[in-house]
Amino acid sequence: MKLEITVRGPGEGGSYPIEIGPGVLGKIGNRIADLLGKAPEKAAIISNKKVFGLYGEHAAGSIASAGPEVSTHLIGDGERFKNFRTLERTIGFLLEKGLGRTDVIVALGGGVVGDLAGFAASIYLRGVPLIQVPTTLLSMIDSSVGGKTAVNTGFGKNLIGTFYQPRAVLIDPSVLSTLSEREVRAGLFEAVKHAALSGQRLLAATEAMISKLESGEKSGSTETNALFEGLGPGIGAHIEFKAGIVSGDEREKTDRVDARSRKILNFGHTFGHAIEKITGYRSLLHGEAVGHGILFAAALSNNLGLLAEHELKLLYDVVHRVGPLPPIDKIDPREIFATFEYDKKRINDTVQWILLEGIGRPVIVPHTQIPEAAFMSAFKQVTNH
Ligand code: NAD
Ligand code: GLY
Repeated sequence: MKLEITVRGPGEGGSYPIEIGPGVLGKIGNRIADLLGKAPEKAAIISNKKVFGLYGEHAAGSIASAGPEVSTHLIGDGERFKNFRTLERTIGFLLEKGLGRTDVIVALGGGVVGDLAGFAASIYLRGVPLIQVPTTLLSMIDSSVGGKTAVNTGFGKNLIGTFYQPRAVLIDPSVLSTLSEREVRAGLFEAVKHAALSGQRLLAATEAMISKLESGEKSGSTETNALFEGLGPGIGAHIEFKAGIVSGDEREKTDRVDARSRKILNFGHTFGHAIEKITGYRSLLHGEAVGHGILFAAALSNNLGLLAEHELKLLYDVVHRVGPLPPIDKIDPREIFATFEYDKKRINDTVQWILLEGIGRPVIVPHTQIPEAAFMSAFKQVTNH
């Protein structure tokens, strides 16, 4: 079954489709030609060795069969390669290949490839068409949708980037069959984030995805395409939620603090980014840091009298059902709070916390309005549960 979702954009790129279904990978070539009006002369695939080794030939074959001359640039695998050096090399590759403004860049990979290739596509010749082909659960439900691109620097993650919408996002859920269980769980933590913000319906769809994967693990069928193809509707539900938010606030307006502002998608991220930074981006996957961040923000919401006890427990249960989170009890809480202060001084006037008044009821609260004791108690809760 193929699903199609349209991201409605007020931005310069206009609306774009997100297509989800088995076999999408083998049809990229024809879809690119349709989306761009005609087949481009050149297509550059940006990927990494692992993903290209698994799916590159299939994707490149499909694109080449529609006409374009295909070239491939492989970047290093991992968060540490999402940097200026990789960006410069990628731009150098595009220049060398002589890619023009009517050609296309195809990002084939997870969020690291997508964020970096998206950034390159947005600045090369002041913008060339981009197709996102996400291959991790996290990149399917989150990073490929909404047009945020970025690289990291020594000052922190994702501080340098652009808003640049792709021409399309093409998703084949069966590629998840080769993703490690830990990476699948990392994507599910981001899914719980969406569910907590959206409400009971998306929470039920998320739990259905978790159940499907649990039953696959029990029956030893996690390597079958059918299991992952079955995640299509769940992935679609998450994309619909994110697409709805970003369509209404494409560039995350700084002065918006309402419950539909794009800022709410940062739920779990203030704490998550802090622990990623303190652990040197080594021991936690991004999704796992967000998993801890969800627990922290939920505990904080409860401490402030915003989130009822039974809803707090519900969220904790879902996060724990996804699977184990790497321990963070060795981190000194003072280091985490120092990170909030650092971010506040260097980047923002004030750190804003995305908290919950209930499942599906986010609220934005300035850091300065939260007593330190509430933070300390939330930290104890997430490290002692
Ligand atoms: P990732 O891109 O590092 O991919 C995780 C691992 O899975 C990598 O080793 C990759 O090679 C491998 N992989 C990818 N697809 C595979 C497949 N089908 N089979 C086997 N292995 C596969 O990590 P990620 O979780 O996809 O993305 C994390 C990044 O996304 C972070 O940099 C984060 O900041 C960013 N992000 C961006 C946004 C956004 O809105 N732009 C949102 C959320 C996260
Ligand atoms: N992942 C947060 C956003 O896209 O805004």
